[in-house]
Amino acid sequence: MERRTITTQRLPEEEKLEISLRPQRLSEYIGQESLKATLKVYIEAAKKRREPLDHVLFYGPPGLGKTTLAAIIANEMGASLKVTSGPAIERPGELVAVLSGMKPGDVLFIDEIHRLNRQVEEVLYPAMEDFVVDIVLGKETGARSMRYKLPPFTLVGATTRAGMLTAPLRDRFGVVQRLEYYRPEELKQIVLRSAGVLGVEIDEEGAFELASRSRGTPRLANRFLRRVRDFAQVRYDGRITRQVADETLRILQVDACGLDRIDRSMLRMIIDYYGGGPVGLDTLAAALGEDPGTLEDVYEPYLMQNGFLKRTPRGRMVTDQALLHLGYPLPEKES
Ligand SMILES: Nc1ncnc2c1ncn2[C@@H]1O[C@H](COP(=O)(O)OP(=O)(O)OP(=O)(O)O)[C@@H](O)[C@H]1O
Ligand SMILES: [Mg+2]
Repeated sequence: MERRTITTQRLPEEEKLEISLRPQRLSEYIGQESLKATLKVYIEAAKKRREPLDHVLFYGPPGLGKTTLAAIIANEMGASLKVTSGPAIERPGELVAVLSGMKPGDVLFIDEIHRLNRQVEEVLYPAMEDFVVDIVLGKETGARSMRYKLPPFTLVGATTRAGMLTAPLRDRFGVVQRLEYYRPEELKQIVLRSAGVLGVEIDEEGAFELASRSRGTPRLANRFLRRVRDFAQVRYDGRITRQVADETLRILQVDACGLDRIDRSMLRMIIDYYGGGPVGLDTLAAALGEDPGTLEDVYEPYLMQNGFLKRTPRGRMVTDQALLHLGYPLPEKES
């Protein structure tokens, strides 16, 4: 029987490449050490018991490896992976069709799981808990509900916004893991590995330069690697050195701390128009012409973790470090 997936979107260029750069096994997956160690134990235990792995929720900023980990889990469990996403499942029946088409032990990956609609989410509760679905047959007065048994499966959910998950859904995941930004040293290993897969020549310093300016994010590191490769081929002898990396990133307007144009305009906006803050997220988003969700999920976490931005009860504030980085004078200390 043909295995059905809901999303068979055509893959744009980057996604195709991402797939080829994805590590397939846990042992090839670089970084996220504590998450990997935990996952390894759960996988081994489940395999010993010949049971599917508990449902797993991954959350954290985009591009850190959630989808990659879902595929790795399926590989490690010797199961097949079905991929779909919250917004792709519009009706409960579609989810039931996917679930009932799975083989025992299979892994269902639901990306952007916080975007499932309520009716669909309700199908998921008994499915996750007891591997059953309740199907309503007929309409109105003649309607009856039938319980239907599902093969035991593992749900892997991913979200950039754990806060938007409903409590009943969150509580049904046995394993909840947050992905952290990667350290430059780890990203360097990822860059070297990707360069190997792509057949690009790169030296250690070139790899480190890319790594330390990729805002802790493998997807960005890989994206920059491809841009830098172009420059290396066109302007140099094809080999990526620190100089080539630096020049390319400068052209891409990525600064020494890995901040890009949007990061900097966000910080400058707070400084120039709101006296350094505090300013509310929505106000800021409107002023920048950006979506507040994108600012919150994609831009803020990195700026906050790296000490450029603070979140206060009254809104966002820039730090002294941000002022210094952008070349503003520091405010005079009140005595
Ligand atoms: N630990 C890792 N080692 C090597 N490469 C990695 C690692 N984590 C992620 N990558 C690479 O980064 C790219 C992005 O990862 P992935 O698509 O899994 O991120 P994601 O967290 O699912 O992002 P999104 O939230 O946008 O869906 C992949 O192509 C993969 O090659
Ligand atoms: Mg993903």
